[in-house]
Amino acid sequence: MSEKNNAPLWGGRFGASPAGAFERLNASIPFDVRLAPYDVRGSIAHAKMLGEQQIISVEESDQLVRGLESVLGEVEAGEFSWTLSDEDVHTAVERRLREHVGDVALKLHTGRSRNDQVALDLHLFVREAAEGLREGVLGAMRALVEVAEGNRGVVLPGYTHLQRAQPILLSHHLLAHFWAFRRDLVRLGAAREAANRSPLGAAALGGTPHAIDTDLTAQELGMRPLLNSLDAVSDRDFALDLLYACAVLGVHLSRMGEEWVLWTSAEFGFATLDDAYSSGSSIMPQKKNPDAHELMRGKAGRLIGDLSALLVTLKGLPLGYSKDLQEDKEPIFDAVDAVTPMLAVLPEMLRTARFDGDGMRSAAGGFALATELADFLAARGVPFREAHHAVGRLVRRCEERAVSLEEAPDDELVAAHPALAQFPRRLLTPEGSVSNKKSGGSTSPDSVEGQLREAWRILDG
Ligand code: ARG
Repeated sequence: MSEKNNAPLWGGRFGASPAGAFERLNASIPFDVRLAPYDVRGSIAHAKMLGEQQIISVEESDQLVRGLESVLGEVEAGEFSWTLSDEDVHTAVERRLREHVGDVALKLHTGRSRNDQVALDLHLFVREAAEGLREGVLGAMRALVEVAEGNRGVVLPGYTHLQRAQPILLSHHLLAHFWAFRRDLVRLGAAREAANRSPLGAAALGGTPHAIDTDLTAQELGMRPLLNSLDAVSDRDFALDLLYACAVLGVHLSRMGEEWVLWTSAEFGFATLDDAYSSGSSIMPQKKNPDAHELMRGKAGRLIGDLSALLVTLKGLPLGYSKDLQEDKEPIFDAVDAVTPMLAVLPEMLRTARFDGDGMRSAAGGFALATELADFLAARGVPFREAHHAVGRLVRRCEERAVSLEEAPDDELVAAHPALAQFPRRLLTPEGSVSNKKSGGSTSPDSVEGQLREAWRILDG
């Protein structure tokens, strides 16, 4: 090439180099350098195919592959260096390849455009990220099941409106989060599948006159080939799928985080975090703060923002490539970087936390047992609304007499409703209440054992 080394690769029709301010706006290299390993892997697949299809000679193909492997080595060793004039990762890799193998590097881009190239890089990144996040979610699910098993029989109040509602088993509560994570796993799997399609061969947008074999490159990368070249360069749905999966996962983490912020407060006193998973205050010596859970709660905001950012970028964008698409990368990286450390901390944080079973149990008694009385009456043929009303009166009487429901004398029960004369008092305990549940998926010990078996089947399957 006759141009000086830092001339853009598209420089042929230009009389002047880019202005510095334009270069800074236009460059994606400061962030898309992260795609370098995927870019090189895609280029190796492309170079091999060019050789097999005799678009370039086998020797040229081999030279390119070897050169790209050296570049990959530099990338993996953290020795790959770039300059702003590289503009983006694709140019930087090609520039470095030429430094390794000479002018044969100029043949690599035959039958390819940065449009299908960047789309491929992103597909590969999203595929790997989805796989990594799936592993992280599985780790959290495993910890939840183990902690649920280790705390069989522990009861706590379930809440509605953050008011004590009914006793539930702690294992049931933990498994509720397990099932939410299970859905995240499915969503991440769907994002992985959506990403697993190679756009190579689309070139700029309409395909290429070269004898590019899209099956060969796709196969080399373990992907399915593109179906439509225009869609292949325009589509970022797979990235949206990942961002949606991360946003929902982030919301799940935020709900769990909020519960632990409550549970570890002096007001609740249900759980204590291990010192290794909490931090102190710089001024108040007594403080032990649930920072990790607050971050789980807080990071949901940026995850929802990342999804919105890409949705809005794509909205109204005509098919084909527009530079707007360069804005797809940072939200994806941001989301993956936000979720990954939360999933890394969660399993051990759960395993090392301690629960105050007595505190939880005493909060689960009292008026949280009122539904048992109403259900008992309804089972005896009393219309449920009437039963509800009768027990409501009893609760009011107990409040007036400053006694708990368990302490209510028989005559108060009978005064509330004559059929309560036969009420078995064992149901007026948190354990009696949870054991009395019969419906599928309930908090009864039998249901929870069934859930644990199903959970292990998923984890071991
Ligand atoms: N840096 C660009 C991006 O991230 C690569 C694709 C450039 N394609 C082009 N036609 N200018 O999207």
